[in-house]
Amino acid sequence: MIIARTYEELAVARAALGSTALVATMGALHPGHIALVDAAKRAGLTPVASIFVNPTQFGPKEDFSRYPRDEEGDIAKLRKAECALLWLPSMDEMYPSGNTTTVHVGGPSQHWEGTQRPGHFNGVATVVAKLLGQVKPDAAFFGEKDWQQVQVVRRMVADLHLPVRIISVPTVREEDGLAMSSRNRYLTPQERQAAPKLFAALKHAVQHLLAGKEPAATLHNTRHELAAAGMVPDYVALVHAETLEPLNVLAHPARLLAAVRFGHVRLLDNLPVG
Ligand code: PAJ
Repeated sequence: MIIARTYEELAVARAALGSTALVATMGALHPGHIALVDAAKRAGLTPVASIFVNPTQFGPKEDFSRYPRDEEGDIAKLRKAECALLWLPSMDEMYPSGNTTTVHVGGPSQHWEGTQRPGHFNGVATVVAKLLGQVKPDAAFFGEKDWQQVQVVRRMVADLHLPVRIISVPTVREEDGLAMSSRNRYLTPQERQAAPKLFAALKHAVQHLLAGKEPAATLHNTRHELAAAGMVPDYVALVHAETLEPLNVLAHPARLLAAVRFGHVRLLDNLPVG
């Protein structure tokens, strides 16, 4: 695996590769990230991973400075996964002094995480646009764990006519159902044990919705189920899977989204409905 730390190094290494797929990450890699590398390989593309903890997608009170970092461990995992190229840009490389241009996404960024984390998706869209411009991949792979993020990126790519295919990959879970996340390590042992109740509650809700139960009542019950597990829901929502607009009646394609605060950790999960 070639490691590029400057744009010049990236450009030279990139030129030697054929059809590539970008796997953009913030590091602290786990099997959910590696699944994106594997999916790129299965699609016949050469995986190019990036690791950059992007400050512009963190709010002023969020965990940018204590976001987990493990460069050595990440490099070993990507080598093992046979990733061809790793892009490790510096802050200066991504945001050189004098830069003023940002991407502002509307549409699918407006609700849910967009409301909970003002400015978050503009930061994500801006850094993803930069990474696409730097790596120039044929495709970019994103995890469905962050369902809204995938829709925001798809919208940006369509709206800006960016020449890249966006491919989403199903959420990788622990054996007990908890969606893998770099932040799970901050759960206490007791919280870790109870955390799969988020996935369980979403599964129950999907069953009820598909059985014809009213969405409002179902979401209400789900919030109660989560609260009973000691979780504080930021939102539990039935949404149009692409526009992310809330649905009052079940229509397709639909997605069930939830974010909860559990101790010091925010857990996100989502499931298809039908
Ligand atoms: P990060 O949280 O590191 O996630 C990088 C990619 O891995 C994202 O596409 C995310 O959805 C995917 N991913 C994380 N956990 C997953 C899981 N359990 N199963 C499947 N995929 C999973 O998302 C970001 O970084 C950033 O916002 C980024 C896109 C890199 C822009 O800074």
